[in-house]
Amino acid sequence: MFGALRLPHTILFGGGQRHVIGAAAARLGRRTLVCTDGRLAQLPVFAELLADLAAQGVEAKVYDGTIPDLPIESIKDCVAGIGDFRPDSVIGIGGGSCIDLAKVVSVLLTHGGEVSTYYGEFAVPGPVLPLIAVPTTSGTGSEVTPVAVILDSGRGTKIGIASPYIIPHMAVCDPELTMTCPKGLTACSGADALAHAVEAYTSKARPAEAMLTEQHVFIGKNLLSDHFARLAVANVFRYLARACADGGDVEAREGLMLASLAAGCAFGTSGTAAAHALQYPVGNLTHTSHGDGVGALLPYVMQFNRSANPQAFAELAEVVDLGDAGMSVDQRSQLFIDEVAALFAGIGIPRSLAALGLGAGHEQDVAAGALKAERLVKNNPRPLDLAAMLNITQAAFAGERAALRDL
Ligand SMILES: NC(=O)c1ccc[n+]([C@@H]2O[C@H](COP(=O)([O-])OP(=O)(O)OC[C@H]3O[C@@H](n4cnc5c(N)ncnc54)[C@H](O)[C@@H]3O)[C@@H](O)[C@H]2O)c1
Ligand SMILES: [Fe+2]
Repeated sequence: MFGALRLPHTILFGGGQRHVIGAAAARLGRRTLVCTDGRLAQLPVFAELLADLAAQGVEAKVYDGTIPDLPIESIKDCVAGIGDFRPDSVIGIGGGSCIDLAKVVSVLLTHGGEVSTYYGEFAVPGPVLPLIAVPTTSGTGSEVTPVAVILDSGRGTKIGIASPYIIPHMAVCDPELTMTCPKGLTACSGADALAHAVEAYTSKARPAEAMLTEQHVFIGKNLLSDHFARLAVANVFRYLARACADGGDVEAREGLMLASLAAGCAFGTSGTAAAHALQYPVGNLTHTSHGDGVGALLPYVMQFNRSANPQAFAELAEVVDLGDAGMSVDQRSQLFIDEVAALFAGIGIPRSLAALGLGAGHEQDVAAGALKAERLVKNNPRPLDLAAMLNITQAAFAGERAALRDL
């Protein structure tokens, strides 16, 4: 047996937990940099956070220019505006884009250099300013993960900085902050959370060698990640459609935030795979959200991957009470994939890459672009070469999952 987890020092989950942020920041020092976006900065809840910090004797500098999907310019803009304010900690509050910005800024404030210096795995040379991550969407799990995803417009692609040093010091998951998410955002961020959990649970298990966690940031399927992935899958099935149907459903909002947190705990160590690799070029070509992209792709990727580990997909069916023990592994694993596709269709996730807005004739570019995300490709349960990527892309473009069934 083998398990591994790399997580924040402290994780808090529950309605009202955000009120601890001032006291937590005070323990880290006298000055904090707060990274957010223009939407949240206008809200009373943000004014309350600033008042809480002030009451705890913490001087705060606010950067509220984060742009969704985190173009590299946002990061440079934030760092340029810091001047001689020397923060002792960084607070990232908002969607995944704000948290990822805070992660990269804490690297740059500690180690200097260009953002691109830190692309890839293990390029951050040492500890960074302690980060308090506060998500306002239920999706990315970035509040607990060792990765930040950046849109490098010069290279024309999304690219990751992956290092255990950028795992936030503290994650504060307060579902009350997600009550304002509109339906489309609830749906696509929830699809992202399910993609994290499924890709973590079905990722390739590597031989449990002692140096595994030293050699890879994302180490593949293992018992401790699996535990969190199962919790995430169960809660997405229970609550995602409910939260989309009624954004005021507090229990559904809570259940969904627990799901995205648990999915982050799972994939933060095990990693994700082909659906995430394919979303990079697809997002670039279609200018659609990360969640809509991985949601559109996930059923096709699962269909392609099923034969590599049908047992894992069948276990996920069991987690959400689909089918029964009398069914064959083959039947039950297929049922899980069909139900994920149905769940996503029911909440408005595009059913194909064409429906997502990808033009015809881009399949080759998408397949070749996805192969460049090596840390994701090597984590996929079935080996991926250009032909395999192209098969998935063509089926996902046409909306024909059956074409992948017996490949
Ligand atoms: N680091 C990781 O582990 C990780 C994992 C998955 C995705 N990501 C990245 O995270 C980003 C996506 O993050 P996201 O899906 O959370 O969205 P986001 O941060 O890009 O925000 C999208 C929009 O939603 C708005 N928003 C956020 N919270 C809201 C709320 N409570 N109410 C109303 N509007 C709200 C934002 O203001 C913004 O306009 C992408 O860049 C993706 O690549 C990172
Ligand atoms: Fe994701």
